[in-house]
Amino acid sequence: MKARIAVLPGDGIGPEVVREAVRCLEAIARRHGHDFELPEAPVGAAAMDQTGVPLPPGTLALAKSSDAVLFGAIGDPRYSDPALKIRPEQSILQLRQELGLYANLRPVVTFPAVYDASPLRPELLAGVDVMVVRELTGGIYFGPKTRTDTQATDTCVYTVAEVERIARLAGRLARQRRAKITSVDKANVLETSRLWRTVVTRVIAEEFAGVALEHTYVDAAAMHLLRRPADFDVVVTENMFGDILTDEASMLPGSLGLCASASLGAGTLGLYEPIHGSAPDIAGRGVANPYATILSAALLLRHSLGLETEARALEAAVGRAIAAGVRTADLKPQGAPASTRDAGAAVLAAL
Ligand code: IPM
Ligand code: MG
Repeated sequence: MKARIAVLPGDGIGPEVVREAVRCLEAIARRHGHDFELPEAPVGAAAMDQTGVPLPPGTLALAKSSDAVLFGAIGDPRYSDPALKIRPEQSILQLRQELGLYANLRPVVTFPAVYDASPLRPELLAGVDVMVVRELTGGIYFGPKTRTDTQATDTCVYTVAEVERIARLAGRLARQRRAKITSVDKANVLETSRLWRTVVTRVIAEEFAGVALEHTYVDAAAMHLLRRPADFDVVVTENMFGDILTDEASMLPGSLGLCASASLGAGTLGLYEPIHGSAPDIAGRGVANPYATILSAALLLRHSLGLETEARALEAAVGRAIAAGVRTADLKPQGAPASTRDAGAAVLAAL
């Protein structure tokens, strides 16, 4: 098939990890007879340096006219002052909103060969296969904000329609998996959570017979994710709870460097990015872990291009590279750590 994939490397380690994922996509294209066009555009601090804004109109236009977006990371210490009006982070928030990417899929799976990289005991990690579905364009991230000299507010807003569509997506995913949904909220305190709980309950009961639904408060969910992670199948939650819980969940596989994500909307256009940030402390040294970005490219093949066989081949290749002991520094290798390029090469070889 012919596809156009916009490549937005961004800041810090973004360009290094994206380079390896692009090499994997090119290899998949050659092997399976596809024609992938992979145009690049600046985003984040890199774009601010070039154009003054974190999401230049040309980058947005490229993303909108593509079949999928492969995104690296954004953020730069030079722009980390919270008082700044223009910040690199605005680019990803604006992309999510402009492209209507209301659902963020964050699969969390563990790899036996690197159980020792996790702070949790191996017996807790066996069989962990969680799909976190994070609502991505609503809630406190996007509600009205105010600021005076003496006070600030952020407003959490959810509409019935916003909760319905994310609940439906969770329902469809649960059907393809173990048919169990955990909806995470704070319904003992927050009005938006009470609406969330009512709507999720109705949608699953009416439209997803056979899918089991449980509700958990976010504080308890944070604890259970570490105490009994293998019990979770699909976890559906609002924007900020999902942001926090998925960083926590990344400690199950042992590193943020193993956690991919897909941001999806109503059509097939999606944005794919590792859940880690730009890691400025290690940027430019060729030591960052590219596996999360490569796994995000696999999600791109699956969800935007409908290439399930190719997606599985790429995921299996990452699994083989990890099983073969090719570990970047974050995966706490026994001997010398693999470089970003070594890890990418190991995936290519396994492909
Ligand atoms: C993430 C990040 C972003 C978020 C930041 C960079 C705005 O933490 O994708 O999880 O909070 O959504
Ligand atoms: Mg986050």
